Amino acid sequence: MHITLKKLHRAYGSLHAVHDISLEIPSNTIYGVIGRSGAGKSTLVRLISLLERPDSGEILFNQNRVDMLDKDELIAQRRRIGMIFQNFNLFSSRSAAKNIAYPLEIAGKDTSFINKRVAELLDMVALAGRGNAPISTLSGGQKQRVAIARALANNPDILFCDEATSALDPQTTRSILDLIRELQQKMNLSVVMITHQMEVVRDACEYVAVLDNGSVVEEGKVVEVFASPKSTTTKEFLANLAPLSQPYEERTKGMVRWSNEGGNYTLRFRGNATGEPVLSRIQKRFEVEFNIRAGGVQHVGNEDVGTLICDIIGEPVEVQKAVASLRESGVLVEEDLA
Ligand SMILES: Nc1ncnc2c1ncn2[C@@H]1O[C@H](COP(=O)(O)OP(=O)(O)O)[C@@H](O)[C@H]1O
Ligand SMILES: [Mg+2]
Repeated sequence: MHITLKKLHRAYGSLHAVHDISLEIPSNTIYGVIGRSGAGKSTLVRLISLLERPDSGEILFNQNRVDMLDKDELIAQRRRIGMIFQNFNLFSSRSAAKNIAYPLEIAGKDTSFINKRVAELLDMVALAGRGNAPISTLSGGQKQRVAIARALANNPDILFCDEATSALDPQTTRSILDLIRELQQKMNLSVVMITHQMEVVRDACEYVAVLDNGSVVEEGKVVEVFASPKSTTTKEFLANLAPLSQPYEERTKGMVRWSNEGGNYTLRFRGNATGEPVLSRIQKRFEVEFNIRAGGVQHVGNEDVGTLICDIIGEPVEVQKAVASLRESGVLVEEDLA
């Protein structure tokens, strides 16, 4: 399901929670929306999932307006949408199977259909045989699996994940993201993944929109946004993966380190524009030397985005030429002037 948002606005009193958002969310992919707490992510999800109406603007599914539907059409359309949340929102008094059965009961399916479908769904989320388990006996990861099975019970076109992995440890996060990716492909879902973690965007999403103060400040293919972030907000999110504005110890976390200090430049480049030939070419052309302090690679989709933290040693004018030449070669250069 292709989703189009046109000039969406939603205010609570004088607070513009969603301000003039226009986006194209392609079908059959995982689209990330990242933003800090309060950026407007959940409000945006409530609008796109038709739980709330925008003050103005349009929402289209496959080019059809869906923001002005009457009650019956709305119910039918909402059945095409699944949602999962940070706190799972499961019925704690029901078993795993009874939770998954719930939307099927609402849709009026008969018992034999429901039993068969629930078994299928349990299998899909790797919980086969655990149907009778009370929710309270399941781990966080297992609860989210039950929630995913419930969200997908009626074969929706769209799955919204609102901070779905924020309450989970890194390893469980990985397994849930892997499951969502697998199910996205299997079911041709359009997944909208809301998060405040760049790791989630890196590991699961093909596209990303960065939200700040209710507005989109940057969007595009994840690999492009990683390789050449433009907005300050995006750079700050990336800084949590390879932080520049933080102490050296912090910003080289997860990188291979040759030295415990220095590194006033951060170079980012995409896998096939590999750093080394570029650096040695520039070292020959200009009177500079690169002193590499730390380096790392982020796997984004099927590509690698490299980050090098280094000093560039030489006369200022030569250093400036080298930086300009790096940028011409498609390397993103950030200078830490502090
Ligand atoms: N129902 C509401 N009534 C009043 N203010 C709200 C309501 N929902 C959200 N807000 C406000 O809108 C802003 C965006 O909130 P939200 O969409 O929940 O952000 P996020 O999910 O990115 O943390 C916040 O300042 C929040 O306090
Ligand atoms: Mg939220």
